Amino acid sequence: MRVIKQPKKVSHKELVKWVDEVAKQCEPDQIYWCDGSQDEYDTLCEQLVNKGTFIRLNQEKRPNSFACFSDPSDVARVEDKTYICSKKASDAGPTNNWMDPSEMKAILTPLMKGAMRGRTMYIIPFCMGPLGSPLSKYGVEITDSEYVVVNMRIMTRMGQRALEEMGEDGEYVKAIHTLGAPLKKGQKDVQWPCNPTTKYIVHYPEERTIVSYGSGYGGNALLGKKCFALRIASSIAKEENWLAEHMLILGLEYPNGQKNYLAAAFPSACGKTNLAMIIPPEQFRDFKVTTVGDDIAWIKKGEDGKLYAINPEAGYFGVAPGTNYKTNPNAMATIASNTIFTNVGITTDGDVWWEEMTKEAPEGVINWKGEKHDPKKDQPVAHPNARFTTPAAQCPSIDSEWENPQGVPISAFIFGGRRSNTQPLVVQSFNWEFGVYSAATMGSEMTAAAFGEIGKVRRDPFAMLPFAGYHMADYIKHWLQFGRSLENPPAIYTVNWFRKDAHDKFIWPGFGENMRILKWICDRTNGMTSAKETAIGWMPEYKDLELRGINFTEEEFHEISKLDKQEWLKELSLHQVFFDTMHDKSPQEINNIRSLLLSGIWNS
Ligand code: OXD
Ligand code: MN
Repeated sequence: MRVIKQPKKVSHKELVKWVDEVAKQCEPDQIYWCDGSQDEYDTLCEQLVNKGTFIRLNQEKRPNSFACFSDPSDVARVEDKTYICSKKASDAGPTNNWMDPSEMKAILTPLMKGAMRGRTMYIIPFCMGPLGSPLSKYGVEITDSEYVVVNMRIMTRMGQRALEEMGEDGEYVKAIHTLGAPLKKGQKDVQWPCNPTTKYIVHYPEERTIVSYGSGYGGNALLGKKCFALRIASSIAKEENWLAEHMLILGLEYPNGQKNYLAAAFPSACGKTNLAMIIPPEQFRDFKVTTVGDDIAWIKKGEDGKLYAINPEAGYFGVAPGTNYKTNPNAMATIASNTIFTNVGITTDGDVWWEEMTKEAPEGVINWKGEKHDPKKDQPVAHPNARFTTPAAQCPSIDSEWENPQGVPISAFIFGGRRSNTQPLVVQSFNWEFGVYSAATMGSEMTAAAFGEIGKVRRDPFAMLPFAGYHMADYIKHWLQFGRSLENPPAIYTVNWFRKDAHDKFIWPGFGENMRILKWICDRTNGMTSAKETAIGWMPEYKDLELRGINFTEEEFHEISKLDKQEWLKELSLHQVFFDTMHDKSPQEINNIRSLLLSGIWNS
């Protein structure tokens, strides 16, 4: 195997040995150690253009940006092919797919044999979190995909610096990725290589190793994100007493300079990127909201007893459809250049387009399948899970402290689901344990038949259902005990932007107006406003919210805040059904809180 690029010296002997083993198994034609330079990025993008994978966009309209279309079999994370292979099934729990590690290896070993033939094997040393931060962790991804290399350069701090920081024996997470599409001698590559029939995304938490086979898309292939920063990191965090969470982090600064940082968890596709980059409405002109992260937070207890969070990522891998100058102007500005677009439409003048970017699809736009869009056919231009990969540093609302190695201090947590009924606009939990209960029971009504019956609530505890690297009941226990280790744990809030009225219309306007709720949350956390006690927690009264500038009546406020006794009795019994699925491990505190909530609701 020819090494086509290698650092002068790799002092990490164990890493060299591992790379050698993987190369022997996967049999690539060539080996390339990534340095993370701009030159390297440009060369690989050019290579992708020459191969037909990337289309260079109009340099004037979208400088240094590219678009590509994936194989139709490879458009999203594959949850049914995602495994937590802990030694014991009881450590993965009922919400994860599990297989015995040796059984899984018996499947993967023959698949990996020669899987990179005809391709180059890239070694990507990377750091999740700011380089040199005590909260950061290192990883090395080995991949046979140039697309992965260039995306990883945007999403992580990767290359020579990360390798140097790892030193001679630094700990790192091992991540092997192959497209599972070896090439025979002389065989021409396809536009989006992957394995159309076989995909596996496998985590071995005890070995801190990830193996991904057959997909080149997003979280399946950019292994620093969901696989490392959530699944493997959550299992490390349990061991080391910290939190790895599916949360955005934002800063809210008052006109007098006082600032709070909030960490907020929402299930996938519930507008986390929009909230992280929110532009406050007119009435809040003197307030500032800043972005630390849009998807993942690593949170540790500092020496002063407060919680500090970093965003382990360096870029955003955001959902494109629905993003526009009204819903998220900051994201639109971020993706103005240096961005990779996957599965969006391409306009005749070499720019990108997706549903809701503007009212009408531009004439002649090419859809994500590479065909000219036919407005008469009921087919979207962009795939609903089309993405942009873009550098966080380009975001106009980026927080000045976003790369502070010590992290930013977290004042409060927010958890939000997608519920058309039952769940009020905003509730502050009575204390940490009540907060953990509401986070553990959050849910979203299913909008896609793929997950089951439309309208049925899919419980998504902490928005971590697809991302917890271990048993969900142990995860809830970890949160309970983590809170007990804090002298003054942050307040916990639950929000629901999606409640509907009797005519099936959203009651709350959402988007930028969510600032009004963020402000109440910060006011409340800072002891600057009152709240009304209810059976499930504290809620604002109409007068407590800043509602100037929108037409949101007291009746609408009551409708979105009301606690319907019958709905809540049903809700609490459904919580029980959910906890019964993990009855062997479900913590006793959860039952106690449920009893307290039940009696509160009965007496309400
Ligand atoms: C994501 C997700 O891609 O949560 O961030 O699915
Ligand atoms: Mn996410």
